[in-house]
Amino acid sequence: MNKNVKKCLFPAAGYGTRFLPATKATPKEMLPVLTKPLIQYGVEEALEAGLETMAIVTGRGKRAIEDHFDISYELENQIKGTSKEHYLTQIRGVITKCTFSYTRQIEMKGLGHAILCGETLIGDEPFAVVLADDLCDNKKDGVLAQMIEVYEKYKCSIVAIEEVPLEDTNKYGVIAGEEIENGVYRVSDMVEKPDPKDAPTNMAIIGRYILTPDIFDILRDTKAGKGGEIQITDALLEQAKNGKVIAYKFNGKRFDCGSVDGFVDATNYFYKKEKGE
Ligand code: UTP
Repeated sequence: MNKNVKKCLFPAAGYGTRFLPATKATPKEMLPVLTKPLIQYGVEEALEAGLETMAIVTGRGKRAIEDHFDISYELENQIKGTSKEHYLTQIRGVITKCTFSYTRQIEMKGLGHAILCGETLIGDEPFAVVLADDLCDNKKDGVLAQMIEVYEKYKCSIVAIEEVPLEDTNKYGVIAGEEIENGVYRVSDMVEKPDPKDAPTNMAIIGRYILTPDIFDILRDTKAGKGGEIQITDALLEQAKNGKVIAYKFNGKRFDCGSVDGFVDATNYFYKKEKGE
């Protein structure tokens, strides 16, 4: 069982503008694929990987996330002993097994900045990061569980990657590196959202990371980059210069639920899965 990585950080402060008006008063992370909010899928993936301490970076208008991972006495009372009680079984299990802590990102200065805001909840230890809008599924081990295994071997920051069509590189952080094992790369370069003509490869970073805690000091010194935001890719590049970033081509499916197309694909996929199709 993994003992080194115990905490999982969920940066969940973004505005979710691509889902307006749904995200005007509802956090993007609470949008459900079938009946389960995106962030609960992420928490369950972390639990499966042996992480039980969830650290969530929220922002204004995100209180529904805290309420979701809490007991609703009124609701519990209302449906106790009725045929509907089973609807709460899964979320109750999650609440029992995990602890949750929260901090707020006051200004949305980018993913790197959101991760830095999480330092107070993480401290001086390696930790996982899940972007709940990247929804992952695998028949066997989840993506985080696979990454923890890679971390145990290399003991440095790990990013999950996926090959994307070259025309889509401008939506992702893109890596270059040397393949040192099947599907495992030592990262030598990283670029945030490059134009396809400037992209070093088509290997894109998806929303799963294991980070070593020196990333916080690096982030403190990282200036705003692409889009005027503090980018985690720029901080990771500093670690990569010392050979301390591994990219891992994970097994499984990933849906970009931050986009409407990806969200619809995920909904169809999980619906068919639930129906056993
Ligand atoms: P996105 O780039 O998807 O941004 O952030 P967004 O604001 O959530 O969505 P759009 O683009 O406006 O539709 C990637 C992840 O980083 C978090 C988001 O919550 C999401 O999980 N994030 C981003 C923060 O927590 N803070 C930020 O300042 C930026």
